Amino acid sequence: MIVVTTARDLVRVMVSGGRLCTFVPTMGALHEGHASLVTRAAEIAKQRDLTDGCVVSIFVNPTQFNEKADFDRYPRTVDADLALCERAGASIVYAPAVGDVYPAGEQLAVPEVPAVATQPKLEDAHRPGHFGGVCQVVKRLFDVVRPQVAVFGEKDWQQLQVIRAMTQQLRYPIEVVGAATVREKGGLAMSSRNRFLSEEDRNRAMAISEALCETWSTATPTEAEAVMRQILAVHQIETEYAVVRDAISLVAPGAGPMRALIAARVGSVRLIDNVAWRPAGTV
Ligand code: PAF
Repeated sequence: MIVVTTARDLVRVMVSGGRLCTFVPTMGALHEGHASLVTRAAEIAKQRDLTDGCVVSIFVNPTQFNEKADFDRYPRTVDADLALCERAGASIVYAPAVGDVYPAGEQLAVPEVPAVATQPKLEDAHRPGHFGGVCQVVKRLFDVVRPQVAVFGEKDWQQLQVIRAMTQQLRYPIEVVGAATVREKGGLAMSSRNRFLSEEDRNRAMAISEALCETWSTATPTEAEAVMRQILAVHQIETEYAVVRDAISLVAPGAGPMRALIAARVGSVRLIDNVAWRPAGTV
């Protein structure tokens, strides 16, 4: 596995000069959820015989944080991250400093943020501007890495839809693949933020996946939302949203596939999770 810290070196070590690799963008603090994304991307690269294999980026992107304190306290665990990347099958890791992604004095354009990013009462209501930062950095990384396939976790469901829509809007020839959420024992979705949970809060946080699974016995989106809110309230979890939406556009649910989504605070830790939803008894 080759580790580079500048875009210039990345381009230099990529034998193909782009298009012959898969890509997993991350912010580090990697866990088994990320390992599954890297393994998936490495498998795809192997199946397609892509010369440069799987490229992983590790970059804590300042422009997607709403609070400087949250950015500062975001865990940085580079050595462990590199070991995980190697074990999971990455061939190249790009771990730049802020100045390599956002060169001083250069204004990096924010691409047009797709409508799915600003659907009411979802992420944008609680983290205004967050997806602007995500789109900005992912476009920049796509431009440097030029992958054939990029793999993102389904845990950040809205992010996955935003990236898909942005990639289409930009007409980039990149296949965006969503990979299933990896869960801890007890159902809690793996997240870099889980390490901040106290033992007690970790137990309470399990109510989030429990609430999502309980929606499978409900018949309408309204009932599903009520069930989620009720379970979260019982565990005294502060709910930011607990909704059922169209799975792709995240507008109010219609005839197409639907998704149940939760964002909640357990103690000082903000957690998100989601599952596919359909009315009970339907196939
Ligand atoms: O999901 C993440 O870790 C980040 O939002 C991403 C996609 C790496 C962009 O910084």
